[in-house]
Amino acid sequence: MATRGSWSSKTGFILAGAGSAVGLGAIWRFPYVTGANGGAVFVIAFLVCCFFIGYPVMVAELTLGRNTEKNPVGMFNKLSGGKLRWKLVGGLMLLSGFTIFAWYSVIAGWVVGYLYKTAMGQFQNVQNLDTNQVFAEFVSNPLTVTFLHALVIFMTSFVVYRGVKGGIELLSKWLMPLLFVLLILLAIRSVTLPGATEGLRFYLMPDFSKLNGQMILAAMGQALFSLSLGMGTMITYGSYLSKRENIPASAFWITFFEILVCLTTGFVIMPAVSAMGKDFASGPELIFVVLPSVFGEMPGGYLFGVGFFILIIIAALTSTVSILEVPAAYFVDEKNWTRKKAVTVVAVVAYVIGTPAAMASGASEFWTNLPGIGTDFFTIMSTAFGDVSLSIGAFFVAIFVGWHWGVGRAADEIESNGNSFAIKRIWGFLIRYVAPITIFIVFAHVIWTQVLG
Ligand code: PHE
Repeated sequence: MATRGSWSSKTGFILAGAGSAVGLGAIWRFPYVTGANGGAVFVIAFLVCCFFIGYPVMVAELTLGRNTEKNPVGMFNKLSGGKLRWKLVGGLMLLSGFTIFAWYSVIAGWVVGYLYKTAMGQFQNVQNLDTNQVFAEFVSNPLTVTFLHALVIFMTSFVVYRGVKGGIELLSKWLMPLLFVLLILLAIRSVTLPGATEGLRFYLMPDFSKLNGQMILAAMGQALFSLSLGMGTMITYGSYLSKRENIPASAFWITFFEILVCLTTGFVIMPAVSAMGKDFASGPELIFVVLPSVFGEMPGGYLFGVGFFILIIIAALTSTVSILEVPAAYFVDEKNWTRKKAVTVVAVVAYVIGTPAAMASGASEFWTNLPGIGTDFFTIMSTAFGDVSLSIGAFFVAIFVGWHWGVGRAADEIESNGNSFAIKRIWGFLIRYVAPITIFIVFAHVIWTQVLG
């Protein structure tokens, strides 16, 4: 298709894919979910899920996308011969695109707010600053949170307007390596803080008594979320991929970088949690209550803080861009909308459905404490469209490739242009059996114990 964008080079694609993967999932979500799920055991479960579910599903999604050059709905429609049930799976992915874009931008907005606070010197030379209090005041201001939410949606839309190469690739190319260097330096500071040992122990010494179904679902959700799987992002990115690229190798590098950033972030946050006397299970506010104190405790902390928040914002943007790209590509491919119209409509809808999520941390009593439910709207939204919807999406990708379209066809696509696929048999086994059966068992177990039990 002449109008379809494509990546400019192999490294361009790996960087864009890694740009999609590396984002708030690694820097904000990984530490707090690890903290809430018992530390080291969770990390092990997360790694197992990345290797045995995440990696094979990523290869599958990229292959489906490249073969059809389509968004998820168009892809399922084409390869299933128009079967409604498969189109519905594509539809679920679109829905995840809208909703994840909506709530993810809320958190990215918090990061923008923290950049502002840091740049204004609010965390400079303040002894005994109660960072929990600072955070609570920040997120309970309705004007601030809704404004920042809008700002992120606007910035993302701007990048996506500009199309594949110009926008997404450019942003990923230079700044992600810099982010990684900064993470390493911060990790060195954190592990040498007095009181860091307890955090390190929590992060590295597994306590297997904490293993349970709920935790494994969280690990699976985290693996899929941070690798951008289960909602068609990698299908859509694969559709811009040239036949020359080696899919298993690209997927390997993307997975590798993502895991590296997650694990390094853990070394920044976990030791600091104990050093600063915070609670591992603080929830979504974890990095926001820990990081300002870390910056306060290091020479050049001001510059580090400002630089770090800028880089997280860019990491978040290369992810929001990849999320928005899914519904945008759908409307462009299937409904013949212009790119501009598609992006605008998705952005406005995401803003509207994300507003209650933005108000759910204290800005509105109703959304913060949903009557009769006892939790906040953000938690519900990010669990349903995060852990749950991505797991369902990944399950059906595995079933579709493993049992419907067929691993043989997938292998032909992967090997086109003479590319090698050394782990073909292992991959086939993982995508047919291991990935779908594991996802199914985890779900069945959680439903059995939580809903029926
Ligand atoms: N992987 C991204 C992150 O970790 C989030 C994401 C999820 C992107 C799903 C695309 C699809 O920040």
